[in-house]
Amino acid sequence: MTRVLYPGSFDPVHNGHVELIETAARLFDEVVVGTLMNPSKGGGLFTLEERMELIDECFAHLANVSTMMFDGLVVTLAQQVGADFIVKGLRAVSDFEAELQMAQTNLVISGMHTIFLPTASRRSFLASRLIREVSRLGGDVSEMVPEPVSRRLAAKVGSSDR
Ligand code: PNS
Repeated sequence: MTRVLYPGSFDPVHNGHVELIETAARLFDEVVVGTLMNPSKGGGLFTLEERMELIDECFAHLANVSTMMFDGLVVTLAQQVGADFIVKGLRAVSDFEAELQMAQTNLVISGMHTIFLPTASRRSFLASRLIREVSRLGGDVSEMVPEPVSRRLAAKVGSSDR
């Protein structure tokens, strides 16, 4: 049985993440989606709890996908959940340098390898940062995120700074 950890900040989860999780759920026996703070990205829009709730709602139909949130190192969470590998998505060559550096760092500090899965080119432009920005400024993000996320974004943005 192979269990993988797919870590990310998922603020919010978008259709590129959905594709990656669905692919991983076909390739591996169990997929744990780990919602973590990215130390370089600040506080974010959704709390870790809210991000996790949205992921749970979007993947309720996949029995081998579960969600966890964690404040710490990816490799610590990977060890805690008994993951065999970390899985990360690559949207474009520009992702590769930073992802390779993280994969090599994680390998050195824990012995855990990272498996990269490419995103389909039609989704390679998707970025949570831009989705937050478009939503905050009143644009339509429904083509880029699952329906529950679209709804929560509208509610969140409507109740805050617009
Ligand atoms: O979706 P993101 O923002 O690209 O995900 C980045 C994330 C959360 C995977 C990264 O920031 C991370 O690994 N955070 C946990 C802290 C950690 O393990 N740092 C060492 C990485 S080599």
